[in-house]
Amino acid sequence: PMKEITKICCIGAGYVGGPTMSVIAKKCPHIQVTVVDINADRIAQWNEADLDKLPIYEPGLKEIVAATRNKNLFFSTEVDKAIDEADVIFISVNTPTKTYGKGKGQAADLKFIELCARNIAKVATTDKIVVEKSTLPVRTAGAIKNILDNTGNGVNFEILSNPEFLAEGTAIQDLLNADRVLIGGDETPSGQKAKDLLSQIYENWLPKERILQTNVWSSELSKLVANAFLAQRVSSINSISALCEKTDANVEEVARAIGYDSRIGSKFLSSSVGFGGSCFQKDILNLVYISHSLGLQEVADYWEQVIIMNDYQKRRFADNIISTLYNTVSGKKIVFFGWAFKKDTNDTRESAAIYVADALLEERAELSVFDPQVKEQIVFRDLDYLNTRTPEENRNLLTVVNDPMEQVENAHAIAILTEWDEFKTYDWEKIYDKMLKPAFIFDGRRLLDKAKMEEIGFNYYRIGQV
Ligand code: NAD
Ligand code: UGA
Repeated sequence: PMKEITKICCIGAGYVGGPTMSVIAKKCPHIQVTVVDINADRIAQWNEADLDKLPIYEPGLKEIVAATRNKNLFFSTEVDKAIDEADVIFISVNTPTKTYGKGKGQAADLKFIELCARNIAKVATTDKIVVEKSTLPVRTAGAIKNILDNTGNGVNFEILSNPEFLAEGTAIQDLLNADRVLIGGDETPSGQKAKDLLSQIYENWLPKERILQTNVWSSELSKLVANAFLAQRVSSINSISALCEKTDANVEEVARAIGYDSRIGSKFLSSSVGFGGSCFQKDILNLVYISHSLGLQEVADYWEQVIIMNDYQKRRFADNIISTLYNTVSGKKIVFFGWAFKKDTNDTRESAAIYVADALLEERAELSVFDPQVKEQIVFRDLDYLNTRTPEENRNLLTVVNDPMEQVENAHAIAILTEWDEFKTYDWEKIYDKMLKPAFIFDGRRLLDKAKMEEIGFNYYRIGQV
């Protein structure tokens, strides 16, 4: 049996695998960490000499990669070799919502996970600890175990669940100073041994009390529940933002007033144009699907409401732009500041901006998009994926620009979709001068100073406050 972990392999060099393994490599110089991916382009980007070309933008990431890469951190496409050599294999591949077949639109697509399990089963010649890092439906470990236990080559596998709680934009800080690490595994002596070995890795930089051990099912389920509770807070405050706009209440004052109650707490109560990101919606849909499958319809309906409220918030923001601009945006230039689903990331998956843009394009608005970290091809990929209109129509109606100042020339309105700090520092008087009058701002992030914007002359609208 394994005494100490010296080699780690991580399958999946994405937003979770890349940063997580970089931090493990930094904090565990005695461990060799190899991150593998079937996407050769992505691996090439991770190996880029120019650290500004890493595939993921996260504050603090490039410094850690610079300090560890090709010392004890390696990025490679040689999946089989890395699996064979490792003591511990993290599975950190994507688990998107199914787009076909049974559970389409709700259930998690586990085909990438199963491929990983089959690959490990095929390649392994020594005992392994296999760690689910991806977010998975409760009881997935059972399926992985079945595949691994039927290889017939006498290798012992221990399967652990170790979900990741980092948020994008703060991934490195979240990893370095995690509130907790969750490790689920079998309650057998060998399961306990595996949990302790994995705990030891994290104990290289986190206090022991923050490392929680549970059974494997609690761990899998806790990840879905954590995301559901977080998203629920955003939908709850967003529902109140609509009420505030009708009653002269101010959503920020309400959030502060309730947040001072230590039982409620002040975090994660910022009203917005709606939550995005690759996980909240996916994980709640997954929870809804599981509850429904197990005959718990009331539970499924309860959580589905979080998503219904989020869709309402995005639609409400777009509708307000249209109705405020005299019920017609056809041919009007509307400028988007921000496309990413939150600041400090280049990730746009499920970003509210995509859905607001789609609604405005349906009304034939002319959109001009600027985001400090998002490239043109990504904006068009996101829109084309919706299939609402042809790629050609999307390119006729929307442009992506690199210079926000040039972009606002002759615009009817600016919509703020992402809370990038730099937007606050812009010369808003100059922007006002360049726009058509009356000049409108629709602030989906409550980012700008209302009094100042009104003093400049803008018609300024923000979520949750008239
Ligand atoms: P991602 O899409 O950025 O990365 C996944 C990578 O896995 C891709 O590069 C893909 O090429 C690779 N891959 C897929 N199948 C493979 C295979 N068979 N062999 C080798 N490589 C393979 O995804 P992500 O955002 O890193 O998310 C990964 C998981 O972590 C998901 O389950 C997600 O729910 C969960 N999660 C994500 C976050 C987040 O902030 N993004 C946070 C916590 C948990
Ligand atoms: C979220 C969780 O915070 C992480 O703990 C989890 O690991 C991750 O999902 C995951 O499983 O993928 P992430 O989606 O990266 O992280 O970012 P968040 O900071 O949670 O923001 C999600 C969305 O909610 C963003 O669009 C953000 O703008 C929005 N949000 C967040 C609000 O509108 N208001 C808030 O008060 C907080």
